[in-house]
Amino acid sequence: MQKSILIIGACGQIGTELTMALREKYGNQSVIASDIREGSDLLMQSGPFELMDATDYGAIEDVVMHYEIEDVYLMAAMLSATGEKFPMRAWNLNMNSLFNVLNLAKDKKVDKIFWPSSIAVFGPNTPREATPQQTLMDPTTVYGISKQSGERWCAYYHAKYGVDVRSVRYPGLISWKTLPGGGTTDYAVEIYHSALEEKRYTCFLQKGTKLPMMFMDDAIRATIAIMNADPKDIKVRSSYNLSAMSFGPEEIADSIATHIPDFKITYQPDFRQQIADSWPSSIDDSEAKADWGWAPEFDLATTTKEMLGNLVKS
Ligand code: SER
Repeated sequence: MQKSILIIGACGQIGTELTMALREKYGNQSVIASDIREGSDLLMQSGPFELMDATDYGAIEDVVMHYEIEDVYLMAAMLSATGEKFPMRAWNLNMNSLFNVLNLAKDKKVDKIFWPSSIAVFGPNTPREATPQQTLMDPTTVYGISKQSGERWCAYYHAKYGVDVRSVRYPGLISWKTLPGGGTTDYAVEIYHSALEEKRYTCFLQKGTKLPMMFMDDAIRATIAIMNADPKDIKVRSSYNLSAMSFGPEEIADSIATHIPDFKITYQPDFRQQIADSWPSSIDDSEAKADWGWAPEFDLATTTKEMLGNLVKS
C-alpha cells in the first residue's frame, strides 16, 4: 500500500514544492495538502486538499483519521521578520502547531513527523563561521526562540515517548515557484524577480551580510532524504545543521550581473539587518553528511542560472 502523507502549510514557499515532490514520488492521491488558505492551481488540482488551521488539534486529528495518515510534514510557521511584528501570534502558531503533531505521534495516531528548524536558532554569541552542530545558542528573535524551544521539545518527545520526529535547520531558501513570506533571507529571492523586471534592486540588508543559503531543490531533497533514512541513523533528534553555500548581497548581485550585465544593486538596510547580524555566516553540517548522507548539489552560480532561467519562462 502507498504511504499516506499530510503536509500542513502546503501553500507556502517550501510546502508547495514539497507537496509536488512527494506527489511525484508517492502518487497524487497519497499526499494530502493542507493550509489555512488555498494555494496555486497546480497544487490545488493535482491531489487532495483540506482547509485546516495548524493550531486546531481537532481539525488535524479529523484529517489524520480520515486519510489514515502515516507521515506528517509541518511546514506552517511565522518567519523571523513578521514574527517581530506579531510576537504572540508567532509564538502561538509556531509552538501550538508543533505540540499538535507531537501529541498525535505520542498517541500513535501518526508514525513519523518532519518539522523544520532554522539557522535562526543561533544568536549573536554563537560562533559565526562554520557554526557547529552543538554550540551556544542565544536566539534574539521570537521566531528563533520558537525554533530553539521546538528543537528541545522534539528531542524530549523522542526520548520520553519514542516519537519519530526528524528535523533540519534550513538556511535561507531560494526558489522560483512560490515567494517566501516574512523572512530575513527573502531578499535572495526578491533580487532575482527585481533583476528581471527592473534590472535593479534595493536590498534591505547591508553589503557584506554573509548568510547561509540553499536552492530549494536541495532543501526538498534533504527533507525527503532525512524522512527516508533508517531511524537508527538519525542520531540528532533536535535538528541537524544543513548547509549548501554562503554569500552576501553583493555576491548574488555579481552572479546576476554575469547574465544581466547592467544590473545594479543599492542598499537600504532596515530592521532585518539586526536579525541577519545575529545569525551565522556559514554552517558546519558534517553530522548530516555522516549520519544520513546529505550532500548539496547547487552553488550560487547554478542557483542563479536556475532562478533566472525559470523566472523568465514563468
Ligand atoms: N528564512 C528564514 C527567515 O529568514 C530563516 O529560517 O526567517
